[in-house]
Amino acid sequence: MTSPQTLLRGRTLTFTAEPNGPDDTHAHEYREDGAILMAEGKIIASGDYADVSAQSTGARVIDHRPHLLMAGFIDTHIHFPQVQVIASWGAQLLDWLNTYTFPAETQYADPAHSATMAGKFYDQITAHGTTTAVAYCSVHKTSADAFFTEAARRNMCMIGGKVMMDRNAPDGLRDTPQSSYDDSKALIDTWHGKGRGHYAITPRFAITSTPAQMEMAQALVQEHPDCYVQTHLSENHDEIAYTTELYPEARDYLDVYQSYGLLGPKMLLGHSIHLTPREIDALVDTGAHPVFCPTSNLFLGSGLFDDAGLRGRGITNAIATDVGAGTSYSMLQTLNESYKVLQLQGQSLHPLRAFHWITRGNAVALGLEDKIGTLAPGSDADIVVLNASATDAMALRMERATTLSEELFVLMMMGDDRAVERVYVAGAPPEPI
Ligand code: GUN
Ligand code: ZN
Repeated sequence: MTSPQTLLRGRTLTFTAEPNGPDDTHAHEYREDGAILMAEGKIIASGDYADVSAQSTGARVIDHRPHLLMAGFIDTHIHFPQVQVIASWGAQLLDWLNTYTFPAETQYADPAHSATMAGKFYDQITAHGTTTAVAYCSVHKTSADAFFTEAARRNMCMIGGKVMMDRNAPDGLRDTPQSSYDDSKALIDTWHGKGRGHYAITPRFAITSTPAQMEMAQALVQEHPDCYVQTHLSENHDEIAYTTELYPEARDYLDVYQSYGLLGPKMLLGHSIHLTPREIDALVDTGAHPVFCPTSNLFLGSGLFDDAGLRGRGITNAIATDVGAGTSYSMLQTLNESYKVLQLQGQSLHPLRAFHWITRGNAVALGLEDKIGTLAPGSDADIVVLNASATDAMALRMERATTLSEELFVLMMMGDDRAVERVYVAGAPPEPI
């Protein structure tokens, strides 16, 4: 017996490359009457409805017209234990961490709290159209177990890791070099490559890791070269000054990570705002990925990410929410703020490039573009259904929209979870817990 097929009908949009400007129509495929055929969690075919429906055998048809079907969004930097930290008032990075973030994260020592919040975290991201995220868990192994357990239950492609942090944090929120190694190793053994899960070795940032802990991170990276590595880099001037004090031998902030052998194409460097020319050269040489977190950078007053400058050097930048310093789970709202950050620097973000960025672009940064981020046959069937007229204000504006790019721009400037009609994760709508 063949497995049941589902055929989604609607307008479809997918990317085959990064659009090279507003007039580059070769990088995307858009179909007015399109379809996606799914079975066993995968996309079997996508294209014109007439062609795709002819290939289907007894498929259940779900008609999403007139909405827009795209690959689910990818968030490349988010903190799972900060779901109750988002929107905490009045501080810049280091005060914000000490006042709000660290106290909230200490609660994740409790497995019941971790499990409850993991369910709420996934409910939030999927409601906002995000089907893959790269997450920081808390220092506690139990938080990462909860993160991956819930991802597996929902059959989601998730990347994450427990943060390694052995200094400059309160009691209850520090590990040791050895325990951080042991717990990370155990988590890798349990979760990396299990189902759709991937592990990210996660030294939180230079300030919260001793040199002895960085050595442990280095050992983990050497022993598990197929794992991701994530950390924070050059977000805030006080952070950079303190890092330089703590690591006086380092040539600059990035050199702390570089000198422990952490840099490579699997590395994601949250923020990467205030970089020196040497640091940028090192990113070029190693293929590590800066992660632009616009709502967070504006919220904490951290600074303006130089997207054009880094891209101009051939660097592949990822983009992310960074909740809880980020102020929205929505990758649409993340694009809204990124547009403004670029405007402030005389740079531009065309809507086609923007939607490429939060789908295939982030997948490329993760090396997962064969699995997620597009509607190509063989990909996992993670799909978002978007409605650019979801609110009265959006509908009013859409009366005057005549092109796909205009519609996408309305979605990214005015859209949020209300514009997400439906999400499919591995071919199925997410079930509530
Ligand atoms: N740097 C170290 N930890 C964090 C964090 O949790 N959020 C942000 N925005 N920056 C950090
Ligand atoms: Zn962060």
